[in-house]
Parts: sequence; structure tokens; C-alpha cells
Amino acid sequence: MQQRCSRKKTHLHLLLVVLLVSLVSSIIYNESSIRRIHEDPDGVPRRPREGAKFTYVRPNLLADIDHAPVLDRFSKCNSTGEYGGRKINWFNSRQQGTAAKQPGRVDLEEKCDVFSGRWVFDNTSFPLYEESSCPYMSDQLACHKHGRSDLNYQYWRWQPHDCNLKRWNATEIWEKLRGKRLMFVGDSLNRGQWISMVCLLQSVLSKDKRSMSPNTHLTIFRSEEYNATVEFLWAPLLVDSNSDDPVNHRLGERIIRPDSVLRHASKWQHADILVFNTYLWWRQGSVKLLWTAEENGSCEELDGLGAMELAMQSWAEWVTSKVDPLKKKVFFVTMSPTHLWSREWKPSGQGNCYSEKLPVDQQGYWGSGSDIPTMRMVENVIAKLGSKVSVLNITQLSEYRKDGHPSIYRKFWETLSPAQLLNPSSYSDCIHWCLPGVPDVWNQLLFHFL
Ligand SMILES: *[C@@H]1O[C@H](CO)[C@@H](O)[C@H](O)[C@H]1NC(C)=O
Ligand SMILES: *[C@@H]1O[C@H](CO)[C@@H](O)[C@H](O)[C@H]1NC(C)=O
Ligand SMILES: *[C@@H]1O[C@H](CO)[C@@H](O)[C@H](O)[C@H]1NC(C)=O
Ligand SMILES: *[C@@H]1O[C@H](CO)[C@@H](O)[C@H](O)[C@H]1NC(C)=O
Ligand SMILES: *[C@@H]1O[C@H](CO)[C@@H](O)[C@H](O)[C@H]1NC(C)=O
Ligand SMILES: *[C@@H]1O[C@H](CO)[C@@H](O)[C@H](O)[C@H]1NC(C)=O
Ligand SMILES: *[C@@H]1O[C@H](CO)[C@@H](O)[C@H](O)[C@H]1NC(C)=O
Repeated sequence: MQQRCSRKKTHLHLLLVVLLVSLVSSIIYNESSIRRIHEDPDGVPRRPREGAKFTYVRPNLLADIDHAPVLDRFSKCNSTGEYGGRKINWFNSRQQGTAAKQPGRVDLEEKCDVFSGRWVFDNTSFPLYEESSCPYMSDQLACHKHGRSDLNYQYWRWQPHDCNLKRWNATEIWEKLRGKRLMFVGDSLNRGQWISMVCLLQSVLSKDKRSMSPNTHLTIFRSEEYNATVEFLWAPLLVDSNSDDPVNHRLGERIIRPDSVLRHASKWQHADILVFNTYLWWRQGSVKLLWTAEENGSCEELDGLGAMELAMQSWAEWVTSKVDPLKKKVFFVTMSPTHLWSREWKPSGQGNCYSEKLPVDQQGYWGSGSDIPTMRMVENVIAKLGSKVSVLNITQLSEYRKDGHPSIYRKFWETLSPAQLLNPSSYSDCIHWCLPGVPDVWNQLLFHFL
């Protein structure tokens, strides 16, 4: 502890940035939980202690609903020890990678890699809708309404190198969704994509034939004439956790049940098309693991990447055992990049995304907001799921869009101090995305594969 403190003193600037990020994020959907993003994992071991044996735990999927007490925001660990080496017993750990070789696999890249391309300024076909014409727009994403006057961020079209994306057609999507449930599951970035989808789709419905449920764990947009829904389920860590309250998840410590997706899966299992994401919540330091078998509440501590891997494996086991690819489509959206340090795209930069008006034009640009080890881990888990999951690889294309974040042009829930107001980059949101904007293109890519 002593050592960690002194290390932090020598990194005062980093700490300031971290505090700033913490401030910004405490406001965003009240997620103070996105704190310490991109800080190095603070020395928490990834590997189990010397001499520990690996044991394999089968995740809880849908059976045994009453097996363990439910985690909520009041849950506490009664004690915390080192990670003891328990792993998730999922399909892959039993039958090495056979799924990837199954015949009939729908390979997203079979014709053209739509994720490899460039942004083209196109103010005739973009934006796909007007910010003010969407009644479901979020005040955290409505940048024009909140004072952004440079609107070029709305006019960029994604152009793959070797083909064209399908032209956006809301009626065609509704036809595909007829009688179905489309559900987005994840964190506030995924919620942004869901709002984008609702805004993209609502315009072709008559006012009296569409509805939105109140904001809860599961929020539902419904079209009567198509008997279809577009839903959002708050599950920022995919597995059951103490952060599953959609409104009140400001918490000092993150506790997950690495071996259980019970609570969320009971809600998402009936959807026909599922779009998952998870990333930023694993980037805030260590995570406490409360295995279902630990009835006395003793936790283990693991770094974010290690904990995310366990969560991805429990999720993957759900996919393996519950998804019939002929009946259900599952997508996984890769990490959404942040633009917290402008020195990464301009050598003299001392700020962040604040006042950025143009995309990065360097092909292959990659900033520190997109963690490569996480990418590799996700890639490995998903590769073993074969045709059951399609990847929406939005990371590279979004990396270019340093201009696409709300920065100061959004609603902030807390009163900003005079000192903050004098230094706008101090409270800029460089995590989420303005709408209309980048998430519309993520949905265009989803449309491409539906
Ligand atoms: C955030 O918290 C404040 C009070 O702390 C509350 O008034 C506000 O409604 C909350 N915002 C959201 C989006 O839940
Ligand atoms: C589109 O952009 C061009 C170049 O900036 C400008 O001359 C033109 O007026 C714009 N058209 C519309 C419809 O905004
Ligand atoms: C959009 O899709 C609908 C239904 O498939 C079709 O009737 C319509 O012509 C399409 N519109 C455009 C502009 O392509
Ligand atoms: C509406 O869709 C649901 C599935 O989401 C289906 O069970 C139901 O039968 C449909 N109702 C009608 C009237 O088509
Ligand atoms: C909790 O139970 C485990 C065995 O299940 C035991 O190893 C551990 O010491 C117990 N911890 C506490 C705080 O009682
Ligand atoms: C911690 O211990 C108390 C008392 O034994 C128990 O009621 C509580 O459920 C435990 N916490 C967890 C997270 O299991
Ligand atoms: C996504 O694309 C990047 C290159 O932009 C690649 O490195 C990564 O492996 C891809 N991720 C997945 C999960 O396929």
C-alpha cells in the first residue's frame, strides 16, 4: 500500500487525469464506476499464487436460479484473498476449438472486410436522421442541443476499402425484425448504440403505433405494426455483479460472480437477435470475484483483464449451450475507443478530445484507449464459438473519430465548479459518442449482417 502511494505521487499528472476521468464518468449515467480507466492494473496478480492448482468451475446458466444469494449494490465481500486459480469450465476447455471448423460457418470476412476502410465526408447522405427529430434522444448524447456548433461530426460516411455498405433502409430492417426481439446487452456505450438504433428506426413508424417503456434494467422500444421490439438490457460486466442497478451503480468496489450469468440471461434468453458488448468497466483496476460456491462471502481479487476473461468464458458457455444459430443471431461489439490524450494523435497535444473537429487521417491509427491484450483475449474466446457469434469489429474505425465524442456538449448531472468551467477539457466526455454520429455506423454494419 505504502509503495503504491509513493508510486502514485510520482505520477501526479496521471492521478489528475484519473481524477478528471473519474469526474466525467461519475456524471455519465451516474457511472462513477468508470473510474481509473486505463490506469495500469495496480499490481494485482493475474496468475494464481505459487503452487496453486487450477480447478474448473461450471458456470450457472439458467438452472438453479436460487442457488446463490443475489448480488446487489449493497453486497460486500466478507474477506478478500488472492486469486486461487479457479477457471471457468466452458465448452472450449473440454473440446479444443472444434466449433471454428464446423461447416456452414458464416464468416463475416468472406467477401470483403467492411471494418477496414476510411471515413469520407458526405453531407448529402449523412446524417441518417436529425438530432431534434428523434424523441428518444438522450441528453447525454445530443451534442448539438447542448451547444456544439461545429456539426461536421454528423457528416462522415464509413467507406470500406473493397466494397460498399448497404444503403440504410429502416423499412427493410423492420421487415427483418417482424415478430422478433432485438436486444442490446451491455454498458453505456451499448446503450448509445441502442438509442442510435431506435432513432434510426422510429421515423418510419406512426406515432400512435410505437412506444417506449420506462428506463429500468430492461428498457423496451416497441413497434405495434411490426410486432417487434428493440430493447436494452443493462449488464455492464455481462456476468452478475454488484453494478447491475441501471441507475444507481456508483460503487467503490466491483464485485462479480465470475461463474454466473443467471440474472441477465433470464432476461436476454428470449431475444432473437442479441448484440453484446463489455470493456470499459474492466479497465478500472482490480475486480473482486465472489464465486457462487463461497457462501460465506469470501472474495478473491484479480486484475481487470483476468476477470474479464472469466466473464467472457461464462458468457461463451451460455452461447455454446443455449444458442442455436438457425434460430438466434448473436453479435459481439468490440471495444469502443476513448480519446483521453491528444498527444497520441498530435505530438504537442496536451488535452483530450475537446475541440477536435476532424477524424484522424492516418491509416491504422491506434491509441491507448484500445487495449491490445484485451482484443487478443476477446478474439480467442470468440474464435472458439464459430458460427454462433459474429463480431462487429468497430474498434479501428472508431479510433479515427476523435471528433465524435460529446466533450463538453452534453448534459452533466452535477454542477460544474468555476475552475472546471474555465478549463473545458477537464470535464470533457471523451468516452461516449454524439448522436447522430459514430454509433449510427455501428448499426449500419449490424444491418449489413442481419
Ligand atoms: C444521477 O443522480 C442524480 C442524483 O445524484 C439524479 O438526480 C439523476 O436523476 C441521476 N441520473 C440518472 C441518469 O440516473
Ligand atoms: C456540403 O459541404 C460542402 C463543402 O463543405 C458545402 O459547399 C455544401 O454547401 C454542403 N452542402 C450541404 C447540403 O450542407
Ligand atoms: C426500403 O426497403 C423496402 C422494403 O424492403 C423497399 O420496399 C423500399 O423500396 C426500400 N427503399 C429504398 C429507398 O431502397
Ligand atoms: C408477436 O411476436 C411474438 C414474438 O416476439 C409472438 O410470440 C407473437 O405471437 C406475435 N404476435 C402476433 C399477433 O403476431
Ligand atoms: C469461507 O469458506 C471457505 C471454504 O468454502 C474457507 O476456505 C474460508 O476460510 C472461509 N472464509 C471465511 C472468512 O469464513
Ligand atoms: C457475509 O457474511 C454475512 C454474515 O455471515 C452474510 O449474511 C453475508 O451474506 C455474507 N456476504 C456475502 C457477500 O456472502
Ligand atoms: C478487430 O480488428 C483488429 C484490427 O483492426 C484486430 O486486431 C482484432 O483482432 C479484431 N478483433 C476481433 C475480436 O476479431
